[in-house]
Amino acid sequence: MGTKLFTTLLIVALSQFVVCEKVVFCNYEAKAHLRDGLAKFEITDIEPALQYCTHLVYGYAAINDDTLKVTPLNEQFDVIKDNYRKVTDLKKKYPKLKVLLSVGGNDDVSGEGEEKNKKYREVLETSARRLAFINSAHTLIKGFGFDGMDLAWEFPETKPKKIKSGIGAFWSSVKKTIAGESVIDENAEQHREQFSSLIKELKSTFRPDNLLVTLTVLPNVNSTVYYDPRALSQNLDFIILHAFDFYTPQRNKKLADVPAPLYELIDRRNDENVDAWVKYWYVDKSNGFRFRLHV
Ligand SMILES: *[C@@H]1O[C@H](CO)[C@@H](O)[C@H](O)[C@H]1NC(C)=O
Repeated sequence: MGTKLFTTLLIVALSQFVVCEKVVFCNYEAKAHLRDGLAKFEITDIEPALQYCTHLVYGYAAINDDTLKVTPLNEQFDVIKDNYRKVTDLKKKYPKLKVLLSVGGNDDVSGEGEEKNKKYREVLETSARRLAFINSAHTLIKGFGFDGMDLAWEFPETKPKKIKSGIGAFWSSVKKTIAGESVIDENAEQHREQFSSLIKELKSTFRPDNLLVTLTVLPNVNSTVYYDPRALSQNLDFIILHAFDFYTPQRNKKLADVPAPLYELIDRRNDENVDAWVKYWYVDKSNGFRFRLHV
């Protein structure tokens, strides 16, 4: 996710009749202010784009390691230096703009190996933890004048496909059958259900205040494992597919590959392309599902 500002168009399909309404989500990654030289990106750099944006997503907030509540990722910059406020204050100049705070997005780094991003699963596991998360989200969103929350949930990353040949391929297929190489989370099924509950509970807390709840699907999370589009779509205002960066040099140091193939390629997993993602997420026009593709 190296690019600092993305804009994309969206077609919104509503029940009964189809209305085409232009929605443009723009992403602002706060940590881009840390870059040097021309790559340094600040609030003033977003402004020229804002006349085209309907939504601005502030990335990213974090989950506190101990309390599992939502917390600013960089207290000093976001709160003490007032960056949250500076961004939500842009609404004074652009009154139609909705500003969302996003949690996760691969910026909230914790743990390694199996422990990596574990808190994103732990917070789902009991209704008391979900409630504490939701209440802290509500306080933060209201306190700084955001219009809602986006969840760029850090579920376990899909492992890069190992491309092997000859004897290596043989042993790896033997190992896979025995150890189930692709099992990265034994409780994935529960986490998927609990995530749907979190979204439902979050939306019912936010609804009275007209606050939005959106989901950003990160490129390295396997949607079929963690997301149930039908259950989720009822309680989400938008779903944003980060359909880029399936493969990056960071994720797979040994193999150069097409970062985000539009269609299936030979010798790749058949669900790792934009077309497969869209098909998985495109539920059904008639249930009022609103869909956004962000490539
Ligand atoms: C995603 O999960 C499904 C179901 O478990 C599996 O068949 C598929 O290979 C996985 N895709 C990737 C890219 O890991």
